[in-house]
Amino acid sequence: MRAAVLTPLASGGTRFEPDGILGVDADGRITHAGAFGEFGPDAVDLRPLVLMPGMVDLHVHLPQVPNAGLGAGIGLLPWLGRYVFPLEQAFDETTAERLAPRVFRAMAGAGTTTAVVHGAIFEPSLDATFRAAEAHGIRAVIGKVMMDRVTYDRLTPEQALQVSLRQSAELCERWHGRDDGRLAYAFTPRFALACSREMLTESAALAAHYGAYWQTHLAEDAGEVAEVARLFPEARDYLDVYDRAGALGPRTILAHAVLLSQRELERLVESGSRIAHCPASNLFLGAGLMPLGHYLDVGGRVGLGSDVAGGPELSLFSVMRAGAYVQGALRGQGDARPVLGPLDWLRLGTLDGARALGLERVTGSLEVGKEADLIALDPAMTDPLPGADPGEADASDDPEELMGRMIFRAHPDMVRAAWVRGRLLERPAAAPT
Ligand code: GUN
Ligand code: ZN
Repeated sequence: MRAAVLTPLASGGTRFEPDGILGVDADGRITHAGAFGEFGPDAVDLRPLVLMPGMVDLHVHLPQVPNAGLGAGIGLLPWLGRYVFPLEQAFDETTAERLAPRVFRAMAGAGTTTAVVHGAIFEPSLDATFRAAEAHGIRAVIGKVMMDRVTYDRLTPEQALQVSLRQSAELCERWHGRDDGRLAYAFTPRFALACSREMLTESAALAAHYGAYWQTHLAEDAGEVAEVARLFPEARDYLDVYDRAGALGPRTILAHAVLLSQRELERLVESGSRIAHCPASNLFLGAGLMPLGHYLDVGGRVGLGSDVAGGPELSLFSVMRAGAYVQGALRGQGDARPVLGPLDWLRLGTLDGARALGLERVTGSLEVGKEADLIALDPAMTDPLPGADPGEADASDDPEELMGRMIFRAHPDMVRAAWVRGRLLERPAAAPT
């Protein structure tokens, strides 16, 4: 494919080829990535589109997508009761079969090629979600939500614990590693408030046993943090609840982490656990401002999450914009660190997300040997004065400016194609081709 190529590099920095070429073999691996002149002329010409690695969404709730955009600012716990639990309770197998293919198409339309997904609690709906991901072609880590208190499950807490552990293990056995690793399983206790100590401990043991992921929410909102302190008096702080369960480590993805003490941050970093930074959600629900610059300074391993429906949009470009605005707000309040630039956000949304999943050799950048997980974007759609004559649109040849426009003037239709392992992903029917 001949197009502009913009990618972070594993060795650091960014590569930008205004007239570039990307070669992909029959197995969907990248064989060439460079300037057009270096390679043969028999390329599909996609100019003036820009090729980038596909986005890695480290945290998204698939059953919640229909309620995206509802309930701004009402606070996490009231929002869960009003907008989330009713929808998840209705997420049975039939609903999943109807909804999951549409959600995966919408993700591809937004530029996401890897998604780390929370489902709901019903096992057959998770099988349906995995089947939809398998058929669609997206790369996905998926887990059944586990809850044995403050739950919409009709089982008793004792039943919920046993059933949830058994069903999660069954799902992991069926799906973890499927299609040569394109699909993976994450044990998914919802958060400390919805889980007994046994649920946290046993789910972490299962994740370790299977070499699967373990994902949950951490310190998102002040009301939640206060309630965790009340329910787990033996724990030093919120992170310690998960630490005592043996749940921290490099296969653990913790969403939000907005309200951490210095001790928690240091322990989180020391444990190698990953943070899914969800700034659009944090602004939407009124949770707070995560000090990303500080976390990165102390070695935090961070990627980005849309957290739909806590976040209103699946697009990681929108998440980057929210993240940049959060940084701007913190700066205004006295944080002296320089804010991240557009190319830093590109790296966070792609290669750093892949790193968070231990997939940096597989995906996250357009480099030879990796699998061809990529998107094609139309920079003209981000033009401040749309409708220019062909060739007249003012698409910058400066990568910083190009990416800045994609973030701060993101257009819902600017992603024109998405591929995983070189296979074109279906997008919503209404999307332009
Ligand atoms: N904490 C526990 N459950 C949820 C959820 O579904 N969304 C968000 N944003 N936070 C949570
Ligand atoms: Zn979430």
